[in-house]
Amino acid sequence: MDYSETSEQSYLYREIEIPFGFPEIFFSRTDTRGKIQAGNEVFQRISGYSWSELAGKPHNIIRHEGVPRAVFWLLWDRLRQGLQTGAYVKNKSKDGRFYWVYAIITPCEGGFLSVRIKPSSALFGVVQAEYASLVQIEAEEKLPPAESAARLMARLAVLGFESYDAFMATSLAAEFSGRDESLQKPPRQTLALYERLMPAAARLLAAARQISEGYLTYRFVPLNLLVHAGQIGETGAAIATISTNYNTLSEEIEQGLERFLDAALKVSHTINVGAFLLATSYVQQEIASSFREEVPIEGVDHATEKNYLDQQQSTYQSEALKSLTGIEQELKSFFEMVSEMKRLASGLAAIRIMGKVESGRLSVAVVNDLIMDLEAFQDIVQASLSDILQANDALRMGTSRLLEAYATEGV
Ligand SMILES: Cc1cc2nc3c(=O)[nH]c(=O)nc-3n(C[C@H](O)[C@H](O)[C@H](O)COP(=O)(O)O)c2cc1C
Repeated sequence: MDYSETSEQSYLYREIEIPFGFPEIFFSRTDTRGKIQAGNEVFQRISGYSWSELAGKPHNIIRHEGVPRAVFWLLWDRLRQGLQTGAYVKNKSKDGRFYWVYAIITPCEGGFLSVRIKPSSALFGVVQAEYASLVQIEAEEKLPPAESAARLMARLAVLGFESYDAFMATSLAAEFSGRDESLQKPPRQTLALYERLMPAAARLLAAARQISEGYLTYRFVPLNLLVHAGQIGETGAAIATISTNYNTLSEEIEQGLERFLDAALKVSHTINVGAFLLATSYVQQEIASSFREEVPIEGVDHATEKNYLDQQQSTYQSEALKSLTGIEQELKSFFEMVSEMKRLASGLAAIRIMGKVESGRLSVAVVNDLIMDLEAFQDIVQASLSDILQANDALRMGTSRLLEAYATEGV
């Protein structure tokens, strides 16, 4: 079919998707402001523009209105911080047709490099619906991009993603594995293992947060207990000692919680970033090798771009390995915090028993209630610690298997 260039036809073609295959990988390289410096044949062909029309143009030349402004705001916000970024992007070709890609954009010398694959996962369907609704909200509420990005992050949290890094890791791993499956390639063990580590890290973080939230809910209990023990007088002497101990312990818990949560966040962050970097290095390796076989397009210096791709691939391969080995270290630091938390939890359990005995003896309603609150907090700590220990075991085992798989599978 001939898709020519008139705007009337562009309007007619806007519902038509440009087909392209899983083996096709796009790449483009821009300067620091997003102006196109180079690209490959797939990018040029699917965009429908000639190379001379693309060269030097801002990358929004193929922007499709179906992508919320929030996505590009997030993209540039991250790129400015020097962070690799993954995103689903709908693009518009010269004739008005559209195509979806999963883009991995990384900083490179003098600008940025974007490598794009064909998305097909179940998550892709979810994201398409999210984009459609956010585009509408942006238009109706005239939302500034930063606010819209905050909405997008809130939606990602509802969908179970702790951060944009978590979303990137899950989405790229899903797209890469799905693509391998469609191409009937054997699955990458390393990525499959990462895909199991990610939910375990999310469980660990959720349990750590539960302790923190429990602490906040019940933070005034030790102090109230202390006040009431004082009011009871002589007969409340034992409960006064218990309250003092509880109060001291509670202060220790408060001091430890921030470091504990921080360590849990680092575990989950390192796993997410590691998964994203590893999949990124796989995609970059593929484009670096397929580009060698590609027919050069006029106006793009093949040797220079080959160097860029090789350089990027080697950088990200070592970054991926660094992250992978970093997981063990983060888990170790976290486990030290868990041991500290376990010590505090046993202190809490002892106070609970003593408190229960004393409140039974005194039979003062308000003291009984406060001891019940102490019990509730201790139950939360106990249950969350047991979840954490389970997740921690899974993470430790998964990480050592991942390191083994990486050693055998390589990149
Ligand atoms: C390396 C790189 C690749 C990009 N690729 C695309 C792309 O494929 N499609 C797109 O719409 N924007 C892409 N962008 C983002 C654009 O620069 C721009 O932010 C976006 O099109 C929104 O444009 P607007 O602010 O004019 O609406 C890319 C940016 C960089 C740095």
